[in-house]
Amino acid sequence: MVQVKHLAVAVLATISQASASPLIFPRDDSSSSSNSTYAFTNLNGLSFTQMNTTLPNVTIFATGGTIAGSSPDNTATSGYQAGALGISSLISAVPEMLSVANVAGVQIANVGSGDITSSILLEMAHRLNTVVCNDPTIAGAVITHGTDTLEETAFFLDATVNCRKPIVVVGAMRPATAISADGPFNLLQAVTVASTSEARDRGALVVMNDRIASAYYVSKTNANTMDTFKAVEMGYLGSIVSNTPYFFYPPSEPTGKTPIDVTNITSIPRVDILYSYQDMSNDTLYAAVENGASGVVVAGSGAGSVNSVFSSAVEELVTEQQFPIVQSTRTGNGQVPFSSEGGISSGFLSPPKARILLGLLLAKGKDVEEIRGVFGKTGF
Ligand code: SIN
Repeated sequence: MVQVKHLAVAVLATISQASASPLIFPRDDSSSSSNSTYAFTNLNGLSFTQMNTTLPNVTIFATGGTIAGSSPDNTATSGYQAGALGISSLISAVPEMLSVANVAGVQIANVGSGDITSSILLEMAHRLNTVVCNDPTIAGAVITHGTDTLEETAFFLDATVNCRKPIVVVGAMRPATAISADGPFNLLQAVTVASTSEARDRGALVVMNDRIASAYYVSKTNANTMDTFKAVEMGYLGSIVSNTPYFFYPPSEPTGKTPIDVTNITSIPRVDILYSYQDMSNDTLYAAVENGASGVVVAGSGAGSVNSVFSSAVEELVTEQQFPIVQSTRTGNGQVPFSSEGGISSGFLSPPKARILLGLLLAKGKDVEEIRGVFGKTGF
């Protein structure tokens, strides 16, 4: 019989402190559909697959991606369907998680990460702030995500969910149906990191391939291989060996980070990214403005440079029309320290991360000089 218990969070906390018995509501594995068998549902409606009072509680928000991907060919590492499996399948595939934490799965979306929208990001931030940050019984959260835009979501959550708890973003490079799929171990490691108090006060984290990285800095650096997530200059925060996380440094937050409160934000204005190259025309910039962009990030060559035609257009739009244009670099690493056109320099932020920050600042109603002030900190 399906066993569903509704208890007040306060009652659970009392039981946790008083009870020597670990399992208060064991899973009923005799059910033919154990995926829908929950041992405990909390006041926020999170259903945990077990409630073992000696373990931390972790929420898993699932969004799709390769970690939930499926293919009829178990050697396919491209061309498969991302976002095919639901959160209960991902949790059921890793029973080892239940020795680490009590987990509750929430399906936020089930898409390839190219289809993650700013509405989905905002919903995730709002829910994380409500059901994870504001609930003292939850230790941390995991977000399963496609790897292609994972760094954008991770950066967004780093800026908008700031309650000291670990918010861990995880993906996989091989679909769940592949030989040697990396998703199950990555998920176990992510839940383990989200459960540990040593992971607190470090901002959002990305856990992939035995490494722990700062969400603020990390990027996908290889289209195919499993060791793809790197912060080339800043390095990793730690590694995971035999499912034990080892942090190389004490807790600290990225130097240039600006936390942003999105409690009253309901939408994020459109920001476009334009890629710089020889012979680049400036009509792409004017087209972005005409088509409704509220800001533009330029992936400049070198330390943010653009050709002279494009440079004049940047200067005109920023200085005469107060239109925010952030100049970043297409090189993948390094700093854009200043803009000779009067644009806003991105500091150490890559174009995708600069786009997320600019969108958030525009949503908060910041003007060009205020935006310049925030980006001024990203170069330290
Ligand atoms: C995606 O980003 O959704 C597909 C690719 C991946 O998850 O690795």
